[in-house]
Amino acid sequence: EKDMNLTEEKEKKLKEIGRAIQECKKCDLYKSRKQAVLGEGNPDSSLVFIGEAPGGDEDKLGRPFVGRAGKLLTKLIEAAGHKREEFYITNICKCRPPNNRTPTPWEMEACFPYLEKQLQIIQPKVLCLLGATAARAFLKRNVAITKERGSIINWEGKLLYLTYHPAYVLRNPDAEITLFEDIKKAIELAIEK
Ligand code: URA
Repeated sequence: EKDMNLTEEKEKKLKEIGRAIQECKKCDLYKSRKQAVLGEGNPDSSLVFIGEAPGGDEDKLGRPFVGRAGKLLTKLIEAAGHKREEFYITNICKCRPPNNRTPTPWEMEACFPYLEKQLQIIQPKVLCLLGATAARAFLKRNVAITKERGSIINWEGKLLYLTYHPAYVLRNPDAEITLFEDIKKAIELAIEK
């Protein structure tokens, strides 16, 4: 019962941040997006999946990773023997960039404090960073993801697990097995005692 209250407390705090994000005008993305996409899932998860920014489907539905790339991510989590609801899923930028372009450095910098607040509440052990853009936002440098995927990097008391973005795998189907193995490893890293 004590745990349930803690979970509810986390959900309440995540909702408060969510309201701030929906009203955010720090960068210009609020002008063109339909709604901010906050993230969803288990507020107690030891593993958080972090993508780049919402696409068209996410912008329309208000949920992260529900389009083609999201369906692949969900499939791979299930193939690893888990459900996406077990984990928390969000993005570096909460608003869709026009034409799904890559977020600018400023857009990522402006939005990053919201992600940091979400992580302070959830307190995960592992962050699975999907793609070079998410990795760049954390490491503050360019990342060659084909070289650096599979790396585990310490970041503020948590472990960053770098891997491909599922949209990259849609364009490069040979990489699917690697993304699958990476997702399995990130889950093991988060769940092992
Ligand atoms: N791509 C992302 O990076 N994030 C989403 O939520 C959907 C697609």
